[in-house]
Amino acid sequence: MFDVKKIRKDFPILNRADAPIYFDNACSTLRPRQVIDAMNEYYENYPACAGRSGHRLGEIVTKKIDEARAVVADFIGAKKEEIIFTRNTTEGINLVANSIGLKEDDTVLTSGKEHNSNLLPWIAKGGIRHEIISDFEKQLKSLQPKIVALFYKSNLDGETLPVKEMTKLAHKYGALVLVDAAQAAGHKKMNVRDLDCDFLAFSGHKMLGPSGIGVLYGKKKLLEQMAPFMLGGGTVSSSTYDYFQLLAVPERFEAGLQNYSGIIGLAEAIKYMEKIGFDDIKNHELALNRIITQALLEIPSIEIIGPQDSSDRGSIITFYTKKLDSHQIMLLLDKAGIAVRSGQFCVHSWFNANKIKDAVRASVYFYNTEEEAEKFVSEMKKISKLF
Ligand SMILES: Cc1ncc(COP(=O)(O)O)c(C=O)c1O
Repeated sequence: MFDVKKIRKDFPILNRADAPIYFDNACSTLRPRQVIDAMNEYYENYPACAGRSGHRLGEIVTKKIDEARAVVADFIGAKKEEIIFTRNTTEGINLVANSIGLKEDDTVLTSGKEHNSNLLPWIAKGGIRHEIISDFEKQLKSLQPKIVALFYKSNLDGETLPVKEMTKLAHKYGALVLVDAAQAAGHKKMNVRDLDCDFLAFSGHKMLGPSGIGVLYGKKKLLEQMAPFMLGGGTVSSSTYDYFQLLAVPERFEAGLQNYSGIIGLAEAIKYMEKIGFDDIKNHELALNRIITQALLEIPSIEIIGPQDSSDRGSIITFYTKKLDSHQIMLLLDKAGIAVRSGQFCVHSWFNANKIKDAVRASVYFYNTEEEAEKFVSEMKKISKLF
């Protein structure tokens, strides 16, 4: 049974005398003891290299990394060889943007609300035509995009896109689909076979896992056709002074010594999350979101960004008022022990297009409590007296 008090015992920072009310989960989540222990175990007990050293310690790491890859693959319904370990979502998207053979005049279609990590890798490619989705099917037909790159859940306002339906439509017109699942991975069950997306990227640190580790899923037949954009140790079976033979996927995309402790910690995070269960995670987040949304809507001049109904925003509540600077609100909340984020959340393009200066984002997770949401509400009521 879902028991938030019991869950909180697993998170060291929540058990300190100065424990924060941590509402910045869309930036990074907290990490449970189980993840920290799994990572430390690598450094303490088998701090060696995977896949290359045949000695006992090397063999242990190789086995652990193989097991972790299987956990990640199961988590999203993929095959092991379709899982590439990256540093984060950003690296996964850059890998695709640089390896699918985009040519001048190719079109890339994205939503108008993408994180910089799913915008800049595309627009930085000279000669590429980048279009924002307005009338999706019409654009697919007329622009014949090479790839459609979409967030699954928005870090700006928590909105979820119907990526399965959009993927089906995109495929009808011959476009590839990349899903930026950075904000989805810790909050909903994802299955890449069901979504049928061609690529999907996410980060460990947004789903209880370590920072510096991420995942890129790619359909095997596509990965096999792509040229790695980073090469080095671990990517080839042999080389001469002017030739090299690439290893199979995924190894050919994992250049250099990998973040073994991070990979092991990520697998532990997935196991932990699955034990909690995505239905309970979702229901708990919605209950907290409802408390916060209802209260914010009662404060004159506060605007909530995105869908007004809390159930369409999951764990995220982003708002602003023209009467007080968002940064000021963040600092006042911080003084009261509540950690939120202010600014443009790496979605500058949306703020610029909508002529909104910035906003405050409260993002909850399953270890937050109703008491914390009530405290946030009472602090916001106090702050609202200033405007
Ligand atoms: C929707 C979305 N995409 C991509 C990213 C980039 O993630 P990372 O910094 O872990 O690469 C983020 C991070 O906030 C995000 O929210």
